[in-house]
Amino acid sequence: MSHSLAPALRPHRSFLSVPAINQRALSKISSLACDGVILDLEDSVSFEKKHEARANLSGHFAEPPAGDRLSIIRINPLLSKFGADDLALVVSIRPDAILLPKVESAEDLQTVERVLDEAGVPDTTKIWAMIETAKGVLNVGTIAGSRETLVPRLQGFVVGLNDLRKETRIPARKGRSFLIPFLMQVVLAARAHGLCVIDSVFNDFRDAEGFEDECIQGRDMGFDGKMLIHPAQIDPANHHFGPDPEAVAEAEAIIAAFSTQEAQTLNVINLNGRMIERLHLVEAERLVQLARLIGQSSRIDQSPFDQGKTET
Ligand code: COA
Ligand code: MG
Repeated sequence: MSHSLAPALRPHRSFLSVPAINQRALSKISSLACDGVILDLEDSVSFEKKHEARANLSGHFAEPPAGDRLSIIRINPLLSKFGADDLALVVSIRPDAILLPKVESAEDLQTVERVLDEAGVPDTTKIWAMIETAKGVLNVGTIAGSRETLVPRLQGFVVGLNDLRKETRIPARKGRSFLIPFLMQVVLAARAHGLCVIDSVFNDFRDAEGFEDECIQGRDMGFDGKMLIHPAQIDPANHHFGPDPEAVAEAEAIIAAFSTQEAQTLNVINLNGRMIERLHLVEAERLVQLARLIGQSSRIDQSPFDQGKTET
């Protein structure tokens, strides 16, 4: 079942938040190598400037930048005084996805699903949810499960730790140790229901080493990618959340081993002294396809990001 629920295969390594009020930042998007942009109408835009920010987005989408990156609009909470106008803008723009902040229940998403349906917005406009409150984390399994019932457009989660830390009073510390149980709940719920799941922002954008450590941690927790605040974070996020060349080489070996004549009726084989089960084949195929999509194969043993680093 989970196979058919898998999100469309595409990289989800790097999602840059771009404040919709910042025209200069909006104009940079066409030159950025991120997998997606989150055009923000919420916390990065002051109350006085919400209207201007919406107008900026209308202008931006009148001539959308070329490229294969996903365009996601983050609106204000639906029940805030800005929610209805934001939603109307999404209906007119029809971006790849609408991102709802502070989602705490499936009903929050169901309202958006209904508005999009009634306005005739095609289901290519997906719904994403920020999980960033205590109630959001507590209810994350039910929220994710709504994809199979009331909210078929639901496609992804983004974790918001700035809000979650504020509410839980867990301070920001290197390693995020007391937040790990919450993060893993979100990953588990996403995987159970075939959603993609994006790790939280790292605020200190001049701390390159700290950012890389957090990318590695997020990747090892099972996140697909990271929400970013600054263009300097794109290359390291693409690198750490991209398929590891060694893992791709191993995946190619698994596919080759299962494609031999004698392996056709075997579920378990010996690959250089390691037991490989047929169930590993599914993940191997996903990894190889993903690597091909982003132009990486096992023959390339250094990413462009690594090469840049060794030159300096
Ligand atoms: N998107 C696009 N371009 C960005 C950007 C972003 N999020 N953040 C910075 N840039 C651009 C700047 O415009 C600048 O371009 P320029 O040199 O041509 O002027 C360049 O990258 C370097 O920026 P820098 O001077 O290092 O930082 P800054 O002071 O301009 O911006 C922040 C710092 C934090 C204010 C800015 O990165 C930002 O607004 N980030 C997003 C915040 C956000 O969305 N928060 C809500 C979600 S948590
Ligand atoms: Mg938030």
